[in-house]
Amino acid sequence: MTSVTRRGFLAVSAAFLAAPALVGRAKAAPSSAQTLTAEPVTAPLLGPDRPTSGLWGFNGSAPGPVLRYRIGETLAVRLDNCLPMPTAIHWHGLRLPNAMDGVPGLTQDPVGQGETFDYTFPLRDAGTFWYHSHQRSWEQVARGVYGLLIVDEADPPPVDQDLPLVIDDWQLDRDGRFVEETLGALHDWGHGGRMGNVVTVNNRVRPDIAVRQGERLRLRFLNPANARILVLTFDSLAPTVVALDGRPCTPHAVSDHGLLLGPGQRADLLVDVMAEPGARLPILDGAYGDPAPLAHLVVGERVARTKPSDAPLALAKADEGPALDLADAVHADLLMEGGAMGSMRDAMHNGRRMGWRELVQANRVWAFNGVAGDMDTPLMRIPRDRTATITIRNETRWPHAMHLHGHHFRVVERNGKPVDNAPWRDAELMGQGETLRLAFKADAPGKWMLHCHMLEHADGGMMTWVEVA
Ligand code: C2O
Ligand code: CU
Repeated sequence: MTSVTRRGFLAVSAAFLAAPALVGRAKAAPSSAQTLTAEPVTAPLLGPDRPTSGLWGFNGSAPGPVLRYRIGETLAVRLDNCLPMPTAIHWHGLRLPNAMDGVPGLTQDPVGQGETFDYTFPLRDAGTFWYHSHQRSWEQVARGVYGLLIVDEADPPPVDQDLPLVIDDWQLDRDGRFVEETLGALHDWGHGGRMGNVVTVNNRVRPDIAVRQGERLRLRFLNPANARILVLTFDSLAPTVVALDGRPCTPHAVSDHGLLLGPGQRADLLVDVMAEPGARLPILDGAYGDPAPLAHLVVGERVARTKPSDAPLALAKADEGPALDLADAVHADLLMEGGAMGSMRDAMHNGRRMGWRELVQANRVWAFNGVAGDMDTPLMRIPRDRTATITIRNETRWPHAMHLHGHHFRVVERNGKPVDNAPWRDAELMGQGETLRLAFKADAPGKWMLHCHMLEHADGGMMTWVEVA
């Protein structure tokens, strides 16, 4: 399928941004419970007059409903599993008690067919998050078992429209049928992961989104794709990035290279619509070729106001995030190996050393520190409230999107050079041959996964966990 072109690769490696960040905090208050029924559904991905696609989702739609709360409220969700296999929900990017993290085999048992599980925890962070299956996620997330989770700030920035933009890709045949035969294909495991042939924004192909001249918009981007990287550009529109992965960042313009969004990542942008009524403003993606529109903002008649809001294009200030003590950090090294065109000869799997051929047969073609996906011991044990650093070296020929559960981290070194004030993130893209040192404050006890969010890579061996005690 699609491969990363040289241009795309350059776009990917050039689009990294650095900025200090801020964190919100509030007391828990109860709010009422809701049920998310995980179930097979159909969606008109190819358009209203075309055949629908059979997907999996929640409460009749795939992706599932947008869950919306206010900071300080308690999320209370009963998962009711009506899928033909076990599942579980992970609340991506949120600080939560470990038992609510939704990782079968690590923090809970899988929720069997016909069973339920109650998730409840206080929402300590405002921002753009998402929830998704963490059981056979390479299959379930590809089928649509995920949704957006928005936690409103106590003091949200004034906007005329708050627009979620969920960009996913799907493998569909000409009749819109979701292609199941390629699920689990070894080629995807060893290369860049499962890529779709149809890209949708909010489940539509190249939708027109109505806005009006003079409006201020908040754009909330989510990349829930298994493997696709996005490099977004905005042509004449000049948005300001105000949050990354659900955390406020220093407001900044999108760089000339574009806004890089790997699997699992989010970005919040604020923008004033200045164009004349009738203008069509493209949102483009150029990760794998020349930039092409994914959607258009179609400008309608001017709002009854002489100019856009006077409020700054920023989120209200919250605190600075946890103080990191790098001098006293607990440290681990993580070597990534494997994949097509790599040099991995063997790795441990199921407790014994396997040669490459055997690993390929087992679909375990990636390894962290010589281990292909075995989860019996953590990468590191961290005393609670200590700073932890992990130096990740990508010795594969592929980019990866490293995601840590339950914590935001910041990059403190890239390829041996110190980085100041990088934004707090819960997932970071790293290019071929790159070395990153991540730092985070281990302030939440429990077992937290660290894995590549390219879901075929995770299943193929790129997963481990850290224990905070
Ligand atoms: Cu969004 Cu472990 O995943
Ligand atoms: Cu990966």
